[in-house]
Amino acid sequence: MADNTENKEKVLSVNNLIVNFKTDNGLVHAVRDVSFDVFKGETLCIVGESGSGKSVTSKAIMGILSHNAIISGGTIMYRGENLLEVSEEEFYKIRGHKIGMIFQDPLSSLNPIVRIGKQITEAMLLNNDKLKLMYNDLISDDLIRYKNTLAKMNIAINNEKKTISALKESIKADNYKNPADKKRDEELLKTKKAGFKEFERKTKEKYLDDAKRLKEKLKETEKQAKQKVKEYKQKVEEEYKKEVEAIKAKHGSVNGPDETAKYNEELKQAKINKQDKLKITKAEAKKRALQIMKEVGIPEPEKRYKQYPFEFSGGMRQRIVIAIALTASPEILICDEPTTALDVTIQAQILELINRIKAERKLSCIFITHDLGVVANMADRVAVMYAGKIVEYGKAEEIFYDPKHPYTWALLSSIPDVDSKEKLEAIPGTPPNMIYPPEGDAFAARSKYAMNIDFRKQPPYFKVSDTHYAATWLLDPHAPKVEMPKIVSERIKHSLEAAEAKAKAAEEGK
Ligand SMILES: Nc1ncnc2c1ncn2[C@@H]1O[C@H](COP(=O)(O)OP(=O)(O)OP(=O)(O)O)[C@@H](O)[C@H]1O
Ligand SMILES: [Mg+2]
Repeated sequence: MADNTENKEKVLSVNNLIVNFKTDNGLVHAVRDVSFDVFKGETLCIVGESGSGKSVTSKAIMGILSHNAIISGGTIMYRGENLLEVSEEEFYKIRGHKIGMIFQDPLSSLNPIVRIGKQITEAMLLNNDKLKLMYNDLISDDLIRYKNTLAKMNIAINNEKKTISALKESIKADNYKNPADKKRDEELLKTKKAGFKEFERKTKEKYLDDAKRLKEKLKETEKQAKQKVKEYKQKVEEEYKKEVEAIKAKHGSVNGPDETAKYNEELKQAKINKQDKLKITKAEAKKRALQIMKEVGIPEPEKRYKQYPFEFSGGMRQRIVIAIALTASPEILICDEPTTALDVTIQAQILELINRIKAERKLSCIFITHDLGVVANMADRVAVMYAGKIVEYGKAEEIFYDPKHPYTWALLSSIPDVDSKEKLEAIPGTPPNMIYPPEGDAFAARSKYAMNIDFRKQPPYFKVSDTHYAATWLLDPHAPKVEMPKIVSERIKHSLEAAEAKAKAAEEGK
């Protein structure tokens, strides 16, 4: 997605992602060239019918696709690293900690026979070595800077490769109106091809110099970090020794069983104090778990901590799942239909909770749903997905008030109107079989606005605004002018009027 969303900091960038599944019936083309960015602190909603590829996209980001999945193209960039390329260890560090995911069915993500408290503290205790965490923290900036440089080098080279093959394609397709243009492209291709080796060498030289310097820096930082960790550990040991000596001195000569017990108790406490400084202890993990349970709105967390999942209602279970995701202090939270299994009132509460947590923790959120009603409550930006592709994306108001793709129109006319309770229009037909994805606009077969070209050629993204793009031939300058369905335009008119009336009332109330 070419996106100029107000120079916000990009936290995640999915580029040209292609995911297929090997099945007995053939290759399922589940995600077909999907790109989008996620910016800091925003919620991007991915909306689309069942089977459009929403979950597969989020599973690819989390690295939890099933074994028959083939990622045959694209990158998922997070902090300068391609998540599809990083090593197993880094992969875990990044995905396990900084990107959290909440699934549709809270029951399936909780273990029915383990107490809630243990399930929340489990992950915290898994990475409980404070010295290691401290070390990683100290080196992470330099490590990432070094890796970024290598990634940038590869991207620059790959981009040049892509430019060359795109040129080749366009010459082969031969859609030139003017033969001079073709000649120019042929010349350019020749120059680029001849110069590629040199380009590659120069690019490598440029970045590898930087990389070398950064690696030296990283080595130095690693050395310092090791020293710091060592000093910290020594300090802790010394403090412990002193404490033990003080206890011994205090009790001088131990008299009787009472005093022995007291003496032993004090020694034990000193040891616990020491361990607290080196490890995340059970007691500390519990304290944090109780805090987070409170944060996600679980009443009586002390009591709830000891209970099993079956003792919780659906909504409370989903709060627990959110709590578990939060223990890792993620930067990005992926919510895959987190409220579909809940009734409407509870659904609203969970959405409110996610919005609150997102704001308080300044999280970025990818929110997946098939329900545009939910999107309206959550999204800063929206990506509409159909048959493995994003067919339209833009800011929430652009998608709701100025939709361009017939599929977005269809989705908009299928949500019940909140005010008039107007009957909804189901989208006619069914999504295509993704073993044989249609050649052109995949929605053409279900769209009464489809033109000939829609059945033959994939539409490019036409720009509607700097932040709004749609892949429909209707936006081609040569296409006949088509109005969106009346039911959609009427709704937009009503909601704009309602918003205006509200604003006016607020103004007058002042
Ligand atoms: N392990 C798998 N093997 C084969 N095909 C799969 C596999 N997982 C997903 N698919 C297919 O990939 C496509 C996209 O599935 P995905 O689960 O992403 O849909 P979705 O948009 O999340 O739908 P829903 O709203 O129902 O959750 C579907 O055609 C699905 O059948
Ligand atoms: Mg899904």
